[in-house]
Amino acid sequence: MDLKPARILGIESSCDETAASVVENGRSILSSVVATQIELHAKYGGVFPEVASRQHIRTIYAVIDEALQQAHMGLTDVDAVAVTRGPGLAGSLVVGVNAAKGLVLGRNIPLIGINHLEGHICSAWLYHADTSRPPEAPKFPLLALLVSGGHTELNLMTDYLQYRRLGATLDDAAGEAFDKVARLIGLPYPGGPSIQKAAADGDPEAFKFPRSRLDGTWNFSFSGLKTAVLRVVRELEKTNRILPVNDLAASFQAAVVDSLFTKTMKAAREFEVKSVVVAGGVSANRALRDTFLHQSEFPVHIPPLSFCTDNAAMIASAGYFHYMAGHKDPLDLDVLPNWPLS
Ligand code: KG4
Ligand code: ZN
Repeated sequence: MDLKPARILGIESSCDETAASVVENGRSILSSVVATQIELHAKYGGVFPEVASRQHIRTIYAVIDEALQQAHMGLTDVDAVAVTRGPGLAGSLVVGVNAAKGLVLGRNIPLIGINHLEGHICSAWLYHADTSRPPEAPKFPLLALLVSGGHTELNLMTDYLQYRRLGATLDDAAGEAFDKVARLIGLPYPGGPSIQKAAADGDPEAFKFPRSRLDGTWNFSFSGLKTAVLRVVRELEKTNRILPVNDLAASFQAAVVDSLFTKTMKAAREFEVKSVVVAGGVSANRALRDTFLHQSEFPVHIPPLSFCTDNAAMIASAGYFHYMAGHKDPLDLDVLPNWPLS
């Protein structure tokens, strides 16, 4: 693909973050604004769809304005608008897609609908515009481990925009397992960051939690692990013992990291890839990052910390590669709440 200079405005509203960003050439982040709704949803212990879409409506125009201002640009300076089309909550996706339509209509520039999962993978290409030496881009063929709140899958990429799903979770996504286990052991939503924090003072070997292997496939499973934690919690509660929250968090986290790392490395060897990408909300996890970064078999690309969880720079990045491929969507573009990547 011929990668020419271009600036893309990205918009993301698939779940509980309203975000906008300007990215140059698919990699250099000129601005990134994320209005999070975490506090609004925390009292429900998860995302409340109706509340989410209403909040997106309240904030989206201010967020877009702020992203353009931070990039010192007007709408006339961007080459295309990329927006998350799915997967995600229908009522939330519609807000971003409609805002994007309004913008391209006024300027007559391309509208590009982006798959949120593709966005997460593209976040591994991002770096801050003020970085003195841009990090090397991932090389093809590459293996992408996508670990978020809604998805956990392994994709083989032979080139830009080419995804072949090798396997995925058969039950809970890794982030979902973090969120559910956090609730089980009394830690606040979102579970990933809470478990990471509690695990820092715990013993990862205190409990021997199972690692699902699903040999002969590239699939994952986390529901057995979640049930194992539940069983220990029930046993301890029966005897009125205080929950060793830190040890439970550390042992659970170690089991998730071990399962993800072992299978990804096996696939990387099998498919003889040139690099490994780890992306999605769970790639913010310190233990997971350290485990991948401490091996030397494959170059590993993990997004900058604040670009692991939902953001719009990743959507602008994916939008750039589609723009370079000449893709463009019509103005009657509809959202796809269950859109698979491959
Ligand atoms: O990618 P993301 O922001 O949203 C989805 O597309 O799902 O991922 C959110 C998920 C949540 O389940 C959250 O608990 C998890 O990512 N997460 C983490 C960490 N930070 C966020 N999981 C483990 N460790 C973290 N530090
Ligand atoms: Zn996401």
